[in-house]
Amino acid sequence: MKALVLIGGFGTRLRPITYTVPKQLIPLAGRSMLYHVFDLIPKDVEEVVLATGYKAEVVDAFVRQHPTPWPVRTVPEAEPLGTGGGMKNASAGLSDPFYLLNSDVVTTVDLSAMLALHQHRGGIGTMALAEVEDTRPYGVAALGPDDRIDAFVEKPEPKDAPSHWINAGLAVWAGSVLDRIPSGRPVSFEREVVPGLLPERLYAFRLRKYWDDAGTPERLLRSQQLLFDDGRGGRGGVPAGAFGSGPVAVARGVRAEGASFGKYVTLGEDVTVEPGAHIENSILMAGTHVEKEAVVLGSLLGPKVLVRAGQRVVGQVFGEGAEVGGPTTPGR
Ligand code: GDD
Ligand code: MG
Repeated sequence: MKALVLIGGFGTRLRPITYTVPKQLIPLAGRSMLYHVFDLIPKDVEEVVLATGYKAEVVDAFVRQHPTPWPVRTVPEAEPLGTGGGMKNASAGLSDPFYLLNSDVVTTVDLSAMLALHQHRGGIGTMALAEVEDTRPYGVAALGPDDRIDAFVEKPEPKDAPSHWINAGLAVWAGSVLDRIPSGRPVSFEREVVPGLLPERLYAFRLRKYWDDAGTPERLLRSQQLLFDDGRGGRGGVPAGAFGSGPVAVARGVRAEGASFGKYVTLGEDVTVEPGAHIENSILMAGTHVEKEAVVLGSLLGPKVLVRAGQRVVGQVFGEGAEVGGPTTPGR
């Protein structure tokens, strides 16, 4: 069994951070989004293939530095090919069946159990589905008897959504689906290919615990909460010499004596938070510096951001090297 992970999107909804950092390398609860997805892939998988595109070399370097339980091979695209095009481009040498995973989803799932169910029921694929209130950003399934998927509509208007069960971005597919994807051009797997596969029987695997797609600032912070609440954010607590409740995921080289922390914070390597500053429900990437008495709430600060003393940063996203407040403020 092999797994194919799609990791080629531009992360437009997380700009300006994604101008320098691919979205999957943003740390949530102290671990990159990509490695939270890797945690779902069974240890006995033979190989994991990454269909990369945007900032492929950054992803490559990151994966080489961070160990994995199985070998990882990357297959970059010269031009973005969409989800289906990326699958096609990376299809050589995949297994039949294979796991397909989006790299920006946050959940807990037993993929081996999903594979066993797939083999038991047969059909062309088994797709994990999550139940959500707002289906607009997702692919929505209509379910028939025995959890067979009768219809699939990508990002429908609410009035056209057949249910609240959406494609969770995790599936088992028969190898033959790869032959159904046209080559040499961008293809949306969900729009152009999946509907045509339904006559060959696609089944649902319903996720019951938690699920989110971390593709926007709000959903990214919500995803981080889910991970912390599931105990996937390390030991919790707050950095040495700091005050507050946490949980805070603390990387190497963090200095935060005299600062205070509310719930759900990630501090990347070499982050400094000066005394009297307060951080809550936020992600501060490597090298970011928050000066004294500044407040950061519900925000994403990319690498090497400087927040000047006394500033209030609420619900904002700053990219690498931004300076907030003080004499020179380039802004977002
Ligand atoms: N290789 C490659 N090439 N990968 C890509 C490309 C591309 O051109 N475009 C997107 N991807 C990757 C993204 O990095 C992500 O991991 C995955 O494919 C899905 O792309 P998104 O851009 O995040 O799609 P979405 O969130 O709008 O919708 C998809 O995910 C939803 C669940 O999170 C669809 O699969 C929906 O049906 C699904 O509900
Ligand atoms: Mg997504």
